[in-house]
Amino acid sequence: MLVNDERAHDLELDDARKTYDFGGAVFDLGAPGDRDIVRFILSQALYGEATGVYCGKSLYAAHSLEAAKFYVRQARQELAHLEMFGEIFRELDMTPTAPHWGLKLLSSHNNYYPLKVLMEHAIGEGMVLHVFQDLLLATLPDNHPGVPSIKKKLRTICRDESEHVAWGEKEATRLLQESPWLRTPFQGVLEIQMSVIPYIVGSLRKRYPDHPVMNQAGDFLNHVQREVGEQAKRLGFAPATNGSRSFRAWCMASGTALFLRSQLARSESKLDKTYLSDLGFPDRP
Ligand SMILES: [Fe+2]
Ligand SMILES: [Fe+2]
Repeated sequence: MLVNDERAHDLELDDARKTYDFGGAVFDLGAPGDRDIVRFILSQALYGEATGVYCGKSLYAAHSLEAAKFYVRQARQELAHLEMFGEIFRELDMTPTAPHWGLKLLSSHNNYYPLKVLMEHAIGEGMVLHVFQDLLLATLPDNHPGVPSIKKKLRTICRDESEHVAWGEKEATRLLQESPWLRTPFQGVLEIQMSVIPYIVGSLRKRYPDHPVMNQAGDFLNHVQREVGEQAKRLGFAPATNGSRSFRAWCMASGTALFLRSQLARSESKLDKTYLSDLGFPDRP
C-alpha cells in the first residue's frame, strides 16, 4: 500500500520519495520470533552506520569547499547514528548479530569517487532511508516502553539521511553531466545492486512467512526497487531493467568492468588544487 505519508510531513522531508505503508502491522517485542527479526534488521542498520562513517573518505576527492564541508558534517552524523543504534540495542535489551554478506557487499567502500557517489551517497542512502522511515518507524510498537525514545532517535537519523540523499543526488547529477559515459555502467551497477537485495531478507521471509510485517517483505522490496528506478531517472539515467535483454547484458558488463576497474583505483585529491579559487583568490598567485 502506498501513501503520501504523514510520516514524511512529520519529518519535513522535502523529496520526491513515496513511502511504503505496512498498513498498521507491527512487531511484538515480547515475542522471541519478532525480536529475532527486529534484531536482524537493527544489526544490518548498525553495520550500515559503521561503514557509513567512511563517507569521510570522500573528503579526499571532494571537488569544492561545499563538498568538503558536507562530507565532514556527514561523517560526524554517521558516527552519531552508529552510537544511537548502539543505544537502541541496549534499550531493547538486544545484542547485534553479524551483518549479512549482501549488506557487506552493498556497503563496501569504493575508491573510485563517481562509483562511491552513486552506490553509497545516492542509491545506498536512499535505500537506508526507506528501511529506517518506512519500515522501522512504522513497525516498532508504540506500546513498548523503550520505543518512544527509539523513534525520537530514528526521526533524527531520518532527517540526517534525507540530507545525505539530497547531497548524493546532487553530486551524482553533477558527475553524470560532467561524464555522460558513466550512464551505461551506472545502469549496470544499479542492476547488480538490485539483484543482491532480495538475498538479504530471503531467509527471514522463509522462516516467518505468516508474520504480518514479513509477509509484506516482497511488496516492500518491490516498492524500494521501483523507487530506486525513479531515483535513477531523476539522476538522468533509466534503470537497465527497462531495456532489452541485450541492452541489459551490455549495461551489466559495462557496470562490472567499471566496478573491477574501481578496485584498482586510487582516490585523487582535489581540494589542494582548488582551495585558492574556492576561497575567492586567483588560481595562480
Ligand atoms: Fe546514517
Ligand atoms: Fe547517511
